[in-house]
Amino acid sequence: MLKIAIIGGGYVGLVSAACFAEFGVSVMVAETDPARLDRLRRGEIPIYEPGLDPLVERNRAAGRLGFTGRIEEAIAGAEAVFIAVGTPSRRGGGHADLSYVFAAAEQVLAALDHPTVLVTKSTVPVGTGRRLAALAAARRPDLAIDVASNPEFLREGSAIGDFMRPDRVVVGAETERAREVLRALYRPLNLIETPILITGLETAELIKYAANAFLAMKVTFINEMADLCEAVGADVHGVARGMGLDRRIGAKFLHPGPGFGGSCFPKDTLALARIAQDARAPSRLTEAVVAVNDARKAGLGRRVLDAAGGSVRGMRVAVLGLAFKPETDDMRDSPAIPLIEALADDGADIIAYDPAAMAAAKPLLPAAVRYAETAEAAIEGAAVLVAVTEWNEFRALAPAWLAARMQGRLIVDLRNIFDPAAIRAAGFVYHGVGRGS
Ligand code: NAD
Ligand code: UGA
Repeated sequence: MLKIAIIGGGYVGLVSAACFAEFGVSVMVAETDPARLDRLRRGEIPIYEPGLDPLVERNRAAGRLGFTGRIEEAIAGAEAVFIAVGTPSRRGGGHADLSYVFAAAEQVLAALDHPTVLVTKSTVPVGTGRRLAALAAARRPDLAIDVASNPEFLREGSAIGDFMRPDRVVVGAETERAREVLRALYRPLNLIETPILITGLETAELIKYAANAFLAMKVTFINEMADLCEAVGADVHGVARGMGLDRRIGAKFLHPGPGFGGSCFPKDTLALARIAQDARAPSRLTEAVVAVNDARKAGLGRRVLDAAGGSVRGMRVAVLGLAFKPETDDMRDSPAIPLIEALADDGADIIAYDPAAMAAAKPLLPAAVRYAETAEAAIEGAAVLVAVTEWNEFRALAPAWLAARMQGRLIVDLRNIFDPAAIRAAGFVYHGVGRGS
């Protein structure tokens, strides 16, 4: 049985570990956060990710998946060591903060007692693999350590399906042994004919940023088109459909909304802009995506205020959805944060509800925000309803039911989850995104 170690038991580390174990690999995860490690060892899953609990449980029970706080225990006998720690934005500038990656690498290198392949699964700037290879050669001249890049393309909320049935796997590996080990790990994907793209280190590292920035650009483009639709009386869904049917464009990532958030698009677009500037090959498009999206999120409060006639002072505002997207509890860079801050600054009485993210949201939102146990409880007596995240359960809220429970008649739907005609027929003033016609 192939044996690997994964350093970092967060969204990517934990999902990758459970999925590799499911492929029949023996996986040990090293996690430094004592609270997180404790939960993992008790069989609890510290994140909300559909389908992850049974997968972890099954593989733990089968003895293929384990958790430890000790790096040396994790890496003992491992043919590959994956680094899956965070690479957040560095304060003041937006370069990726590589301190966790290099700290993890130092710990691994200090503890290694056998040759291995050191793989970055974290999203890391171009050149990081090369730096890690130099570090490995300097720290452990006694061991043959190959460095490889294996960026991860999973999405939160559909992480297991994305990992098990990816569009492609990217492997930046420049030695036969590194290519062999990574091919062996992903062998089950041969059955579903997944392309395994083997490249050099820098190419693999750049593919990850380029893919995220391109997707973020698609979202940002349709968001701008949505604003234009509102101004000229067009319907953005018609525009997106008409564009997306062109196979060169593709239908995905053309859904307009409050601006992209999450733990990756914001930091990765910013980091790519910095990488390109540092390389003196600036990516003006990526810089524009960052600026346009930031402005969109900063303007969300104003959107609601304008819809309410200039102010929401003293009004009860029900906010449905806090996570940056449905099916996750991740609040990192969620559009709900600047929106709620702006509404609170204006003096709104905010009552929020999210099916999974309320615990993560509380420390990030103004203290005055109240939280409801259910969507129904949040809506009861509200003057304004603002839909921020498109959880399926919100789609089921019937217009007549809303009208019976709410005091006011204003709905700002930042994800276009409601049918405008039905909502208006129930007596509401409705503001969607890009639904100008
Ligand atoms: P995360 O913050 O959820 O998890 C990182 C984990 O690593 C934390 O639990 C932390 O305690 C642990 N850790 C940090 N240093 C450690 C060390 N030295 N030893 C052991 N554990 C350590 O981060 P994430 O969302 O999983 O992202 C990880 C990387 O993967 C980032 O580079 C991110 O850009 C990339 N990525 C994330 C996603 C996603 O959907 N979240 C998708 C693709 C790629
Ligand atoms: C994204 C990428 O899709 C993954 O391939 C990548 O691995 C990951 O980033 C990463 O590098 O971490 P994720 O952030 O989980 O995944 O979620 P997405 O579904 O891509 O959504 C990102 C943001 O864009 C969300 O705020 C979402 O609401 C927004 N979005 C997405 C839209 O507004 N419209 C769309 O049509 C699609």
